[in-house]
Amino acid sequence: MIVSVINLKGGVGKTTTAMALATQAAREGVPTVVLDADSQSSASLWQYNAAQGGSPLGFEVRSANMADLLRLRDEGRDGLVVVDTPPTGNVTDMAKDMADFVVVPTGTSGLDLQQTGAVVDVLEAAGRPYAVLMVRVEANTLAARAAREYLASRQASVFEAEIPKRSDLSNAYGQRFASNLHGYEDVWHELKEAMR
Ligand SMILES: Nc1ncnc2c1ncn2[C@@H]1O[C@H](COP(=O)(O)OP(=O)(O)O)[C@@H](O)[C@H]1O
Ligand SMILES: [Mg+2]
Repeated sequence: MIVSVINLKGGVGKTTTAMALATQAAREGVPTVVLDADSQSSASLWQYNAAQGGSPLGFEVRSANMADLLRLRDEGRDGLVVVDTPPTGNVTDMAKDMADFVVVPTGTSGLDLQQTGAVVDVLEAAGRPYAVLMVRVEANTLAARAAREYLASRQASVFEAEIPKRSDLSNAYGQRFASNLHGYEDVWHELKEAMR
């Protein structure tokens, strides 16, 4: 299964989402690889730092250009491939087109949602299976409620699970995640259901 993590906005939580989903899948014994298609190399550096720090991640992270993505599309692959993407560009378009499922992480601010709405438009126009994932959610805030209402009014496909704002998750960069993935476990299960 190829899962691409996409949003037009930087800093929303794409890389964190890619790495946490890969972590959960690997923990369940699924052969997993993260393809890092972002020239900022956050996922690759995360893996490098984890290995240097003596806590390897338990799955592979490989940098990937357009040709690597094309090869993957043509040859297919067992298990899970998670593609972490830059906000825009050819490689992001390709990651969107070749994915079996697109995960769209979004924050709850108006700015985040505006960009997310634009991504949803593109995915729906292209007929791609996708769902929006609310991340860095602060429970019981107006922003969280407004975000849910906005996505519902758009009739966007949304994961039931939401990822709370947690220092655990932001501190995970460059390391293995702690055992609690704060909801990414459920996101992975919803993804598996959706792919059935
Ligand atoms: N659920 C969360 N709670 C707290 N911080 C988070 C959460 N998800 C991501 N972050 C932090 O937000 C920042 C941006 O996340 P990142 O995954 O790098 O986004 P992107 O790949 O979209 O640029 C990072 O500092 C990351 O640690
Ligand atoms: Mg990133």
